[in-house]
Amino acid sequence: MSFFENTRKPRGLGGRIMVSMMNIGHGALARWGLGFLELSPDARVLDCGCGGGANIKKLLNRCPNGVVKGIDYSAVSVETARDLNRAAIDQGRCVVWQGSVDSIIFASGWFDAVTAFETVYFWPDLPVCFREILRVLKPGGTFLICNESSGENPRDEKWTKRIGGMTIYRAAELKGFLEQAGFQDVEIHQKKNWLCVTAKK
Ligand SMILES: C[S@@+](CC[C@H](N)C(=O)[O-])C[C@H]1O[C@@H](n2cnc3c(N)ncnc32)[C@H](O)[C@@H]1O
Repeated sequence: MSFFENTRKPRGLGGRIMVSMMNIGHGALARWGLGFLELSPDARVLDCGCGGGANIKKLLNRCPNGVVKGIDYSAVSVETARDLNRAAIDQGRCVVWQGSVDSIIFASGWFDAVTAFETVYFWPDLPVCFREILRVLKPGGTFLICNESSGENPRDEKWTKRIGGMTIYRAAELKGFLEQAGFQDVEIHQKKNWLCVTAKK
């Protein structure tokens, strides 16, 4: 297995190294994307494919009276995200759950916002996963997708060749899947090859 396969599902020592690298390496992208998300101090947020939990931490800082939950199907990601956010977990403001986004354990209509940083490339069936996210959002809630690759740079192909099961979506494809799932008010933001898409329930 190539080291880069750990971006899809971090495992073992290579996975631990990868999630630590991603916690740092995805910081600038996440800060840019979070600029498009309005959150009240008491918001309830779900971070899907949370990896090592750096974005959960950012969200907890943005919502000092809120609750932030994370979900990831990798045991290594879940363990790292829990370690990083231990204080908030102990305060009852954070939960990190091991599971796949196509079947989310959390209750319907509970979250003000759902985020997905650098992860939809790997999701099994986007319309199914997006319908699950729609289900857990409150009416009027926001789904934010943030990707470092927008599919517009020919060099993106090097990643899909290197990492099995990875698909890089263009903005229009994501908009189509979101609308198919029942989202509305889809907005697209781009900077360099970065892509951030927001959509409302
Ligand atoms: C490239 S990492 C990004 C991690 C983190 N969001 C970040 O920006 O650093 C992708 C993460 O998505 C998770 N993931 C991929 N497919 C998933 C699925 N179907 N359900 C839950 N998590 C998934 C992987 O385990 C991995 O932790």
